[in-house]
Amino acid sequence: PTLAVIVVAAGSGTRLGQAEPKAFVEVRGVTILERSLDAVFDASTPAQVIVVAPAAKLASAKSIALRAAGPAAGAVTVVEGGASRQASVAAGLATVLPGVDTVLVHDAARALAPAELFDRVVRQVRSTGRGVIPALPVTDTVKRVADGVVAGTVDRSDLVHVQTPQGFPRAALDHAYAVAAAEHTDDAALFSADGGEVVTVEGDARAFKITTPWDLRRAENVLGVSRG
Ligand code: CTP
Ligand code: MG
Repeated sequence: PTLAVIVVAAGSGTRLGQAEPKAFVEVRGVTILERSLDAVFDASTPAQVIVVAPAAKLASAKSIALRAAGPAAGAVTVVEGGASRQASVAAGLATVLPGVDTVLVHDAARALAPAELFDRVVRQVRSTGRGVIPALPVTDTVKRVADGVVAGTVDRSDLVHVQTPQGFPRAALDHAYAVAAAEHTDDAALFSADGGEVVTVEGDARAFKITTPWDLRRAENVLGVSRG
């Protein structure tokens, strides 16, 4: 394949507060990791799929990944993550095969991100040669606050929420990770810090990140409505 998708699933899910690491928590009977991988394998571009998992969950991640992959099982790798998300992405990047020219990085926690979002990001990376992030407009009014006192209203006309999968030309992403000196909040920020240009594609509301118990309820409800 000329595409690799790194699915980072090595976090502990502190804010979700369940016994299992977050990617191994079920939403309506199917783990968050498996739901994310189902979309990756439903996307139309064949990919090397790299799952980055907690040390204690490598075997479980492998069986989930093989089940999601079905006939594409040969394209799956499972590797151990690191202490930060950035370290986990770096561990995944280290296993990208020669011949891959485009890399997507996806949070397993965005369990309901649809396959078409992956396709949209891949297409945009390949047509622009830039970093690509899914984005949605900020709809709430945003205030600047100091010591609990409102100091002003932020103009939100040029603000967006960003999601994953984020996509990059492989060589430029490898370089950005090799020289990264600090922890960045997302892969696009790390890529920009190395001089890479990043553009947006339209995000998808379903690509919200499951972070808190409320988010888990929301995911259950979305599935309940769409699948009956
Ligand atoms: N992640 C990872 N390795 C880490 C930390 C995070 O692979 N050391 C992954 C998570 O598994 C998740 C994604 O990065 O899919 C986004 O991180 P987040 O939502 O913050 O997940 P957690 O770090 O697990 O949650 P929390 O911060 O609440 O502990
Ligand atoms: Mg975290």
